[in-house]
Amino acid sequence: MDELTMPAPTVEEALLDRRSVRAFLSKAVPRAEIDRLLALAARSASNANTQPWHVHVLTGAAKRRLSAAVLRAHDDGERVAQTEYPYQPRPDEWAEPYSSRRRRFGEGLYRDTLGFAPEDTAGRLSHHRRNYEFFGAPVGIILTVSRRPLAGALVDAGLFLQALMLAARGAGLDTCSQASFIDFYPVLREHLRIPDDHIIVCGLALGHADPGHQLNRHRTPREPVSSFSTFYDDEPA
Ligand SMILES: Cc1cc2nc3c(=O)[nH]c(=O)nc-3n(C[C@H](O)[C@H](O)[C@H](O)COP(=O)(O)O)c2cc1C
Repeated sequence: MDELTMPAPTVEEALLDRRSVRAFLSKAVPRAEIDRLLALAARSASNANTQPWHVHVLTGAAKRRLSAAVLRAHDDGERVAQTEYPYQPRPDEWAEPYSSRRRRFGEGLYRDTLGFAPEDTAGRLSHHRRNYEFFGAPVGIILTVSRRPLAGALVDAGLFLQALMLAARGAGLDTCSQASFIDFYPVLREHLRIPDDHIIVCGLALGHADPGHQLNRHRTPREPVSSFSTFYDDEPA
């Protein structure tokens, strides 16, 4: 059965099935299907329905040109010292429990899935470079939002991103969000028509997962509900 004949997953199934896919088949995604997924994602809630998002959708030669330019900048050491918005601190600045979770993620991806130690800088670098080829996906998306005001728009962008990833799952497609692109935002600005009053949130790879690729065996755990929830009830116990 392919994605056209498979029954669409329920919302619960899409939530449980979604995962970051880091190896894609070259099989194209039709333009009409990309349009449909974007229209679904645009149903996301946003502050007073301001819909502050914009997507730059790259396929074919345009995607290859952008990838080549970002990879050149990457290999020439042109990563920016400061991104357009503070997505993450320096590695040594993470607080607990996030620092440990981040370390576990690295262990899972590098040691358990790819078979090399997270301390293996060359191995990590060669994997990391694949981000800039959108992990081989036929569709690369760069998501931007209005800077005015920025914090609220970033919340809205997160909702849009999750909706797009779930809509993709609904269509039998897979995704990987990619903040790695913002380290090279000047290159993106050179290649894409991004107005000054928008900032680049992240990239997104979209396509058909390569089912046999070892990278797609990687699974991430979640903390139990009790660890991140505080319930209140005025009824006596
Ligand atoms: C905004 C955002 C940016 C991300 N950037 C990257 C990235 O640059 N490269 C990458 O391989 N994964 C990236 N990820 C994927 C996360 O590592 C992944 O979501 C997390 O480890 C949980 O795994 P899962 O998506 O498979 O459930 C990003 C995720 C989000 C939400």
